[in-house]
Amino acid sequence: MIRLQSSLRRKKAVDCPVSRVICLALETSCDETAASVVAWESGKFHVLSSIISSQAQKHAVFGGVVPELASREHLPAMHPLCRTALEEAGLGLDDLDVVAATRGPGLAVALLMGHSFAKALAVAAGKPFLGVNHIEGHLLSPFLAAQAPSLSEVGEWLALVVSGGHTMILRATPSLACQRLATTRDDAAGEAFDKGAKILGLGYPGGPALEKAARGGDAKSVDFPRGMLHSPELDFSFSGLKTALKIYLSRHPSDPADARYRDICASYQQAILDPLVSKFRRAVRETGIRLLAVAGGVACNRALRAELEKMAQEEGATLLLAPPEYCTDNAAMIGAVASLRFSLGERSVLTEDIFPQYA
Ligand code: KG4
Ligand code: ZN
Repeated sequence: MIRLQSSLRRKKAVDCPVSRVICLALETSCDETAASVVAWESGKFHVLSSIISSQAQKHAVFGGVVPELASREHLPAMHPLCRTALEEAGLGLDDLDVVAATRGPGLAVALLMGHSFAKALAVAAGKPFLGVNHIEGHLLSPFLAAQAPSLSEVGEWLALVVSGGHTMILRATPSLACQRLATTRDDAAGEAFDKGAKILGLGYPGGPALEKAARGGDAKSVDFPRGMLHSPELDFSFSGLKTALKIYLSRHPSDPADARYRDICASYQQAILDPLVSKFRRAVRETGIRLLAVAGGVACNRALRAELEKMAQEEGATLLLAPPEYCTDNAAMIGAVASLRFSLGERSVLTEDIFPQYA
């Protein structure tokens, strides 16, 4: 087993595990500023508040995220968001056990904002601080659903994390010991949605726009390539897909007014979904694990959710889909990791740096 957390040596371990933790968490890895208060007790997470301030419209005019703009937008948003998150939870700083923030992966200038602010807040409040791996946040987000099982009742599970930056299949345990079974060789699934949407003139963020444009379309209409679908490896590859779309559109120009436009969008979306569902199914069969969890921004996609439900049923597996509000970036998932790791005795040192390449 390897741990996603590659920097445990930087963390101070405390001997006795605690059974109840209240955490204020900040997430600023990209273009969302988010704050949340999460309580952890007996293996269950309770989201007491979760607030997200999205900068998407500010970046839309540039067709993608501009790191320095993201960083500057986080700065004025963090203090009011933390204050509101505490107010909504009905708590004050004194009630907290730990203050947390995303340490990486993400945009360095954006991570620095939340990570530095949370450290300063922890010092001012006299509370411990924990820096969190964003991917572990996505990994735990299916367990934020009210009906999700308690982590204390769960053994191993198989996770599909599909976001704008990552596409992974992981074998995970409640102590967050993880084994990565698959990753993308090039673009992430969300990136394939975003780049395809840009080529199709659908704007940013591309995933939700492409899903909407594809609704009701014939997904079999264009035979776009399915990267690595038949490879013996579980890995993914999506970079050839956008090139195939560009070539197709150069030969068959189309715009939203065209009747075939919806079919092209649906076919493109299907070429992303097929490898995701097929490789995840193979991982289920190869590992024999029957508890599945799916998270990350792309997990908002309704067509993907429906196909995964069907696959899980066919394989006799239990499927936990992250609630849509916790699929895209949020601070509740960061609070979940921090409260769990805090309960296991972990603390970050205050000299901890951000880790933009965290994997
Ligand atoms: O998890 P997330 O908020 O950020 C990262 O950690 O990357 O994921 C954002 C990604 C974007 O690529 C966005 O286009 C995609 O998730 N996404 C979707 C949908 N909603 C968001 N992709 C497909 N269908 C959606 N409905
Ligand atoms: Zn994310």
